[in-house]
Formats: sequence, C-alpha cells, structure tokens
Amino acid sequence: MKIQGSVALVTGANRGLGAAFARGLLAAGAAKVYAAARDPASVTMPGVVPVRLDVTQPDQIAALARELTDVSLLVNNAGIGGSGPVLDPKAIDTLHRQFETNAVGPLRMAQAFAGTLGERGHGAIVNVISALSWVTLPGATGSYSASKAAAWALSNAMRQELRAQGTQVLSLHVAFMDTDMARGVPGPKASPDEVVRQALAALEAGQSELLADDMTRSVHAGLTTQPPMYLGMVG
Ligand SMILES: NC(=O)c1ccc[n+]([C@@H]2O[C@H](COP(=O)([O-])OP(=O)(O)OC[C@H]3O[C@@H](n4cnc5c(N)ncnc54)[C@H](OP(=O)(O)O)[C@@H]3O)[C@@H](O)[C@H]2O)c1
Repeated sequence: MKIQGSVALVTGANRGLGAAFARGLLAAGAAKVYAAARDPASVTMPGVVPVRLDVTQPDQIAALARELTDVSLLVNNAGIGGSGPVLDPKAIDTLHRQFETNAVGPLRMAQAFAGTLGERGHGAIVNVISALSWVTLPGATGSYSASKAAAWALSNAMRQELRAQGTQVLSLHVAFMDTDMARGVPGPKASPDEVVRQALAALEAGQSELLADDMTRSVHAGLTTQPPMYLGMVG
C-alpha cells in the first residue's frame, strides 16, 4: 500500500514502537494518524489525533470503528509482556491477560475495521508479533510466546480472509527492541524507528511478512535446523 496520503490508526501509540509508528507515518506523508492510547492525554506528539482505546474493551473498539470511517491502515501494535514459568499457577492469569491484549485485541480490531479497510480498496493491517512467536525462552516467556504464536496464526488467517477485498496483512516479527518492554533485557536491541522504517518499506512493497532484525531471522532459520531451535532451548 502507499503510505503517502493514507489514514492510519496505531494502537498503543503513546510510547515505544507505537509512538515510533506514529512518528514514521507522519514523516512518510500519511494524511492523518490516529494515535490510540488507553489514556489519550499520554499522547504528546504534535500532528497526530489522539483517541481513547483499550484493545481489551470490545465496546471501545466498536465505538471507535463507528467513529473513524476513513482508516486505510491499521497498526495492531499494543501489547503486554510479562514472564515467568508456565507451571506456576499465577501463569494462568498472565496468560489470559496476554491473550486478550496480544491476540484477541488485534483480532477484534481487524473484525471492527475490515469493512472500512475494504472500502478504501487497498487498505492494510500491520500486526506486531515477535520472534518469540516461534520459540520460548526457558522458564520465562511461555505465556507471552503462546499469545504471540496465537497472534501469528490469527494474522495468517486474517490475510487469507481479507485477500479477496484487497487488504494487505503484514506480520511484523522482531526480537528485542529498545523500549520499556525490554528495558531489563541485556544485549543488542533493535531501534523502534529502524523497525518502523522497514515496516513502511514492506507495506509499500506489498509484503506479507517482515523479519526485522538478525535475531529474528536466525530464530526463523532455526525452525528447520536439526534439532530445531525450539527443541534445543532447555533451561
Ligand atoms: N520491546 C520488545 O522487545 C518487543 C519485541 C517484540 C515484539 N514487541 C511487541 O511490540 C509491541 C509494542 O511494544 P513496545 O516494545 O513498544 O512496548 P511498550 O513500550 O511496553 O509499549 C506497549 C504499548 O502498548 C500499550 N498497551 C498495553 N496494553 C494495552 C491495552 N489493553 N490497550 C491499549 N494499549 C495497550 C501501552 O499503553 P500504556 O502506556 O497505557 O501501558 C503502550 O502504549 C507489542 O505488541 C510488543 O509485544 C516488543
């Protein structure tokens, strides 16, 4: 899709990768950027239109879809982390929250905005997923990985179901980025602005998938090694 002149809606746009998307879209010539946040007052970027949205609240999603009838690009970015062993009983609560935010939220958004995107002819959805949709870090990311694996499968299903109406669906996989979510993680982290630059180029090129950094590309390649990477990672 063409970014120039597009009307974008970015979830979780008040900070981290979502703010980088809002900034990058404005710089690339988007006609309008709706910056959605649980607290719209937390959106301080000039030039965007702040809107209230908690992606776990179906009523808010439905109301926003009724209000914003000009959206041609939906960026499903909002997400939550959280780690710990899945065999800890507390993991069930974490899992429910992560699924609601990271997998069900993007699906509800796609359902609510599919009609509007179809009317725009060549609309697009970006689903921000993760390298952790394919592997689990031992004793740590099981529930988050499960939610992102579900988001990956749903992104593939959305692409199939929206193809007939000409809506592009881009799955964006990235490992660690320099945002609040990965603050405690040591080692190299991708720059959110660089990830956005690649994502906008991938949209313009009509791609369905973006592996945005070396770590993600190596995890993806590791799915077919012997043993595959996800079996080799033991605690
Ligand atoms: N950082 C990484 O290393 C990394 C790697 C791979 C993928 N990702 C994914 O990248 C996306 C962006 O994450 P980030 O790194 O920018 O994290 P971040 O800095 O923690 O920002 C998360 C954003 O999501 C919003 N959010 C959380 N729950 C929400 C909800 N229920 N409704 C609406 N907004 C909600 C937050 O809003 P509040 O300010 O209200 O909390 C915030 O704007 C996420 O999907 C994440 O899973 C991140």
